[in-house]
Amino acid sequence: MDPLESFKDAQKKNWAHFAPLEMQTTPCAAQLVKRAGIRSGQNVLDVCCGTGVVSVTAALLGANVTGLDLTPELLQRARENANMANLKIDWHEGDVEKLSFGDAAFDAVLSQFGHIFAPRPEVALAEMLRVLKPGGTIAFSTWPPELFVGRMFALTAGYLPAPPGVAPPPQWGDPNIVRQRLGGAVKDILFDRATMLVFGLSPAHHRAFSERSAGPLVRLVAELSASDPGKLAEFRRQYDALAAEYFEDNTIRQDYLITRATKL
Ligand SMILES: C[S@@+](CC[C@H](N)C(=O)[O-])C[C@H]1O[C@@H](n2cnc3c(N)ncnc32)[C@H](O)[C@@H]1O
Repeated sequence: MDPLESFKDAQKKNWAHFAPLEMQTTPCAAQLVKRAGIRSGQNVLDVCCGTGVVSVTAALLGANVTGLDLTPELLQRARENANMANLKIDWHEGDVEKLSFGDAAFDAVLSQFGHIFAPRPEVALAEMLRVLKPGGTIAFSTWPPELFVGRMFALTAGYLPAPPGVAPPPQWGDPNIVRQRLGGAVKDILFDRATMLVFGLSPAHHRAFSERSAGPLVRLVAELSASDPGKLAEFRRQYDALAAEYFEDNTIRQDYLITRATKL
């Protein structure tokens, strides 16, 4: 199998356990939808939608929403989340690098901590912009490399490097790189910051929860517990030391970047 395809295949398996983390991304979804200025009647695409927290938030405002994700287990949960709220959302299993929608089909394209996991940023972004109407809004939330989640991804990648050709997800949290990637395709780029507060009794308590649900950690723990338990213990020690820097009042502070721009 092509290395990028087998990378995506592994992603699909690793993200299958993400559903409990929707409680953490739910408040962030409201922030993204608000900052993207989503309105009733708009056609909105939520890429890498997971359990549909952004999709449901936008649909409750009256938008016509399409949610797309690689992982069928999460789409199943997304369906349940939409049904609970009596919402009709169009769910698609698919890859953000190869969208099955026509050109200029949407008024807004959103991604919350999602397209950053596509191995080739330029391919994912080109697809997100292709399906967006001129004058439409692209908006996404991403993890800065210098803050907790970005540093945690770098730590994880140090133990379990991605295959060649896979861009590090936290690059999407650097406004200079984001500006460069968006290039001349958009105008009015706006950057903003927001905070995700994650509850935990200790850094290790937070890690234990993340190890069971966050894709890259699920994979690392599965691989190292079989191949090198000593290395896994060292990873856990380093993770807890990093998390301790952001731990106060039983919360881990996870600041992130929100980008919004208008397609030319
Ligand atoms: C951190 S979760 C975010 C989920 C959701 N947006 C949220 O905020 O709760 C990352 C999501 O990206 C999806 N994903 C990863 N690579 C993808 C790809 N190439 N195409 C589509 N979805 C992908 C995963 O299946 C997972 O649902």
